[in-house]
Amino acid sequence: MINIGVIGYGYWGPNLVRNFAELSGATVAAVADLDSQKLAIVQKRYPAVKTTTNFQDLLTDPSIHAIAIATPVSTHFELGMAALKAGKHLWLEKPMTESSLQARKLTEEAEKRGLVLIVDHTFIYTGSVRKMGELIKAGDLGRIYYYDSVRVNLGLFQRDVSVISDLAVHDFSILEYLLSEHPTAVSASGINHFPGTPENLAFITLFYDSGTIAHTNVSWLAPVKVRQILVGGSKKMITYDDLEPSEKIKIYDKGVSFTDDPKQIQEMRVGYRTGDMWAPKLDSSEALRVEGEHFVDCIQNRKTPLTDGRLGLRVVELIEAATSSMRGRGETVYIPRQESAA
Ligand SMILES: NC(=O)c1ccc[n+]([C@@H]2O[C@H](COP(=O)([O-])OP(=O)(O)OC[C@H]3O[C@@H](n4cnc5c(N)ncnc54)[C@H](O)[C@@H]3O)[C@@H](O)[C@H]2O)c1
Repeated sequence: MINIGVIGYGYWGPNLVRNFAELSGATVAAVADLDSQKLAIVQKRYPAVKTTTNFQDLLTDPSIHAIAIATPVSTHFELGMAALKAGKHLWLEKPMTESSLQARKLTEEAEKRGLVLIVDHTFIYTGSVRKMGELIKAGDLGRIYYYDSVRVNLGLFQRDVSVISDLAVHDFSILEYLLSEHPTAVSASGINHFPGTPENLAFITLFYDSGTIAHTNVSWLAPVKVRQILVGGSKKMITYDDLEPSEKIKIYDKGVSFTDDPKQIQEMRVGYRTGDMWAPKLDSSEALRVEGEHFVDCIQNRKTPLTDGRLGLRVVELIEAATSSMRGRGETVYIPRQESAA
């Protein structure tokens, strides 16, 4: 049995505790939050779980094997490093840290100590993203031409992070998971419509050496909620609508081909293919449950998580590069060949 201590019981923490509490290989041993009113809710829901306002109590408890941190991003590095130094396996909320330097330090510390470090990029554990990954990795889509995403709604304006850290982070993690290469350059534009607050709208383009191009439009200032992704490949194309109750993923046997036949050079050389569309059956398990089971499996069997510190670090590097480009009004920012990919 893996005993997990959770730090932070605000908006997201309760989802972690609920899912961890239902895992067969783990228990929630304790919850820490600075706010004792939140702890009173924990005590009512889970009378057997210890509560404390001091996170150190969790780190000094030898019966706790792993710590999950669901506090604001500005605290992730300090709390995460303290947990690793106390010898605990670590579940860290997204985005992993405020800076790539911090993310690298945490990753190296976990590796040095042989501890599991998972970053909660929840989308990677959804049936939809796993199905897309399966299709792309099996070569069913052919060469990937583009990834195009819209992730907008009248969102909760965050005070400490921009819409890139809040929403584009999901596309960055999905891209890192789906594609076998990392972007080499980024160009982003964005704006804060309300002085003194972080950017609430951004358009981000990522460039890849293979010719793949990825774009995401993220906003907290849209009248309707949209969560849609298109992936275009040379053989097939996918649409993913996360708000569809069923049939979130649709695969289209559509595409174009160009002829090199010199006899047709003066003519229209493009041929269109419009075949079937189908919606594959998806695993509807809650992503956090799947991820929780994966975390426990990684601890028990010394495996590396799908969303390990290296992936979390690459996502933070993309947030930094996109933010720097956005502050330079869309100037191209090159992403150095990543040490983290080594
Ligand atoms: N994976 C996802 O899809 C997803 C979704 C939402 C939020 N998140 C992430 O979860 C994290 C928390 O976000 P949230 O919206 O729940 O924030 P929140 O502000 O609602 O909750 C944070 C909680 O942490 C507590 N806290 C802060 N510092 C503490 C400390 N030193 N010790 C103990 N408790 C402390 C606060 O009292 C608060 O209750 C962020 O990193 C966010 O990006 C992830």
